[in-house]
Amino acid sequence: MSSSTQNKKLLNWVDEMISLCQPENVIWCDGSDSEWDAMWTLMVNSGSAIKLNEEKRPNSYLVRSVPADVARVEERTFICSEKEQDAGPTNNWADPKEMHHTLNGLFSGCMKGRTLYVIPFSMGPIGSDIAQIGVELTDSPYVVTNMHTMARVGQAVLDVLGDDGEFVPCLHSVGAPLTPGQQDTTWPCNPENRYIVHYPETREIWSFGSGYGGNALLGKKCFALRIASSMARDEGWLAEHMLILKLTNPDGDVQYIAGAFPSACGKTNLAMLTPTIPGWKVETVGDDICWMKFGEDGQLYAINPEAGFFGVAPGTSMKSNANAMLTMQENTIFTNVALTDDGDVWWEGMTDEAPDHLIDWHGNDWLAGSDSLAAHPNSRFTAHAAQCPVIADEWNNPKGVPISAILMGGRRASIVPLVTEAKDWNHGTFLGTIIASETTAAAFGEVGKLRRDPMAMLPFCGYNMADYWGHWLEMGEKENAKMPNVYYVNWFRKNEAGKFMWPGFGENSRVLKWIFERCNGTAEAVETAIGNMPTPDGIDFSGLNLSEEDSINLMRVDTEGWLAELDGIEEYYATFGTHLPAELTTQVNELRNRLQASK
Ligand code: OXD
Ligand code: MN
Repeated sequence: MSSSTQNKKLLNWVDEMISLCQPENVIWCDGSDSEWDAMWTLMVNSGSAIKLNEEKRPNSYLVRSVPADVARVEERTFICSEKEQDAGPTNNWADPKEMHHTLNGLFSGCMKGRTLYVIPFSMGPIGSDIAQIGVELTDSPYVVTNMHTMARVGQAVLDVLGDDGEFVPCLHSVGAPLTPGQQDTTWPCNPENRYIVHYPETREIWSFGSGYGGNALLGKKCFALRIASSMARDEGWLAEHMLILKLTNPDGDVQYIAGAFPSACGKTNLAMLTPTIPGWKVETVGDDICWMKFGEDGQLYAINPEAGFFGVAPGTSMKSNANAMLTMQENTIFTNVALTDDGDVWWEGMTDEAPDHLIDWHGNDWLAGSDSLAAHPNSRFTAHAAQCPVIADEWNNPKGVPISAILMGGRRASIVPLVTEAKDWNHGTFLGTIIASETTAAAFGEVGKLRRDPMAMLPFCGYNMADYWGHWLEMGEKENAKMPNVYYVNWFRKNEAGKFMWPGFGENSRVLKWIFERCNGTAEAVETAIGNMPTPDGIDFSGLNLSEEDSINLMRVDTEGWLAELDGIEEYYATFGTHLPAELTTQVNELRNRLQASK
């Protein structure tokens, strides 16, 4: 565990943070296997982690958090821009000076009795023109191991950083200093004082009090989305909450497709989909985040800035996502899932029947038929991308992959058809701004309420959402720009009996096929008021056992429903005041006119 750098900015910052946090030790992380082993030995010995059965799940571990620290905390996430209006109405804003003051107080001495780990990491293939470097300081060995999997870590990153390269400083503490002789807890954290703070202008991240997921693995949502979205605006690129997949047709032709879906809408499943249509192949480039820059040919080239998957475990099974199951066969970290009697893992939905006995995510005995959940609904697996059986060779390509299509999707029981193609980039941007989902779990508040989640970026946009829409529109105006086609998709439309009409999962390949063929100019479309839609035979429904009514309703343009929807959209747009790009008002007016004319 040693690394060397002469980068003055980095060395000075580390020194400054050591003085502030006062750790007992400092370790520079190199991302090696021996470092991984050392961290796990530490966590197993302290009771923080359980090594899983080596025969069943080699080199894999289970960690349990405390119930108060199980998910991202949006209400404790702040964008501290100089001006409040630059954070916009969808973000929590706090004055940067005041926040610095609060955080300096909290971080002062916060690592006493602990080790500070310095983790140099690259988001994206090391040295790629699209990649960025960050350095995370953390007092959590659990974070160190997760960062090994989720990012490229170690000396190679410092080599690319060089003596005067730029990096994003990411400071993290669980916020639980130890007094001499004090016994540590198995999941130290400070839930009463959580702060996930971003300074977009100075490109810094400070995170205090939580050890979980996106709150603590600062390369992911904090850097790769919030800070990166604001860098992307300044520098003319896009940092998006999107999966990236590679689609190959039976002739061997390839298209790369990105897709924005709100959290918990099946992005990982879609990215690893097994097509049901013969001869077609889906391979994964990324399942959560996509950075896109213009190539010389005017196309957008995308990389997955991450190196692993931090996927939701419940619901994942050999039926729903065999490739995810195979990805986590070894070298995997499981957080808040249940432990089986033979030292393996289990969660709701993994098998049709639960084992008779488990240890649940609280560490208590659990018997089949129990009312309580054995695994937390937001329990996770952390596994390296290279372990995915359908990982595309290009996932590590520093040049990225050229994107032909962007999917925008939400979870809508009504109104939104299975697939609609945007008329052009501006219309596609408009469709992105109106993504919304009916909430499914209490996590986001009232169940069944519409949560607007533009471009699936609601919790992740590092600046004013309306300015972000403006940035999307401007990207399409760049000279020589060849923007991807945009598709609005909805796998979740229900019929009058309240049943999902579309089977989803592998059958989504039927929709992807039409999109592919639109991109290579071989499929027809019908112009409607809401955009271009497949011809009646455009999507092959054969063998799906869809009723005639459902197959019509899946594609039906619900004129009255859309007109009512527009009122809600206008109300939503009004909350952005003068920041709303005029083009979006034009899009609303034009859509209303087209809908009225089609009546
Ligand atoms: C995630 C999320 O964990 O979007 O990817 O919440
Ligand atoms: Mn996500």
